[in-house]
Amino acid sequence: HDHLLTAKQLSRADIETVLDRAAAFDGDPGSARERHADKLLALCFFEPSTRTKMSFETAMKRLGGDVVDMGPVESSSVKKGESLADTARVVEGYGDGIVLRHPKQGSAKMASEYVDVPVLNAGDGAGHHPSQTLLDLYTIREHAGLDDISIGIMGDLKYGRTVHSLAHALTNFDARQHFVSPESLRLPRSVRYDLHESGAQVREHEDLDAVLPNLDVLYVTRIQRERFPDEEEYEAVAGEYSIDMDTLEAARDDLAVMHPLPRVDEISPAVDDTDAATYFEQAHNGVPVRMALLDLLLNDE
Ligand code: CP
Repeated sequence: HDHLLTAKQLSRADIETVLDRAAAFDGDPGSARERHADKLLALCFFEPSTRTKMSFETAMKRLGGDVVDMGPVESSSVKKGESLADTARVVEGYGDGIVLRHPKQGSAKMASEYVDVPVLNAGDGAGHHPSQTLLDLYTIREHAGLDDISIGIMGDLKYGRTVHSLAHALTNFDARQHFVSPESLRLPRSVRYDLHESGAQVREHEDLDAVLPNLDVLYVTRIQRERFPDEEEYEAVAGEYSIDMDTLEAARDDLAVMHPLPRVDEISPAVDDTDAATYFEQAHNGVPVRMALLDLLLNDE
């Protein structure tokens, strides 16, 4: 079986296959009702989620299938000390695929080595979040296309797994990537190395002002408080790198502001009413994109 573990595994052709299928489902959601009527998807979320979990569930149900949910860690046998490997081996008997979110980097890959059903990484610590990346790319493609674009990626680039996956995936396209963060939250060295090796067009900045006027897309992220080793380090950077109506004055009229959500205070609510606000549409795109992913992986195409 194919798994979806990181965005690094995705070629341009893979990405286009998923996005084109997602567009077909988006245009005609009812068309998919019978496609996976006999299938069950197991949801194992060891960390909180609203969008990823609910949109996978919606996607599976729109494909005619259903979900079985491990539920909160607190009410599962993880509390009794069960290992992730054992949980994965047990759950593969309950579903035709496993969606896994876990705080440990590399956890989805590890789980995939124990099971014979597709594993979809729904976020592994500060590692990757590839299904998010596909819905991000779907949204970017709708607004600006995926070639000859300039994208600003701002905020917590160190711990933000959506950033790591998106940066890797964008190397498949003619995209100029401008990373904007405080020095302490720069992209991890390993990601910078991979981007450099791929020949990606990458620049790093501490200030948004210089790059904002040239951007097609500004991808804002939350400072990942839960991943900071201590509260003091978090407080030192919290509240920086946010945008409001004043920020937008220097941007192009057709700028798309994206955010994987949840937001805390990175985007002023006043921005929600502007044409730039693309983040709720982005969250909704999770359904057709995850329908396409499940359709491909559960059929083992
Ligand atoms: N974007 C995202 O992964 O959101 P959730 O944590 O709510 O799933």
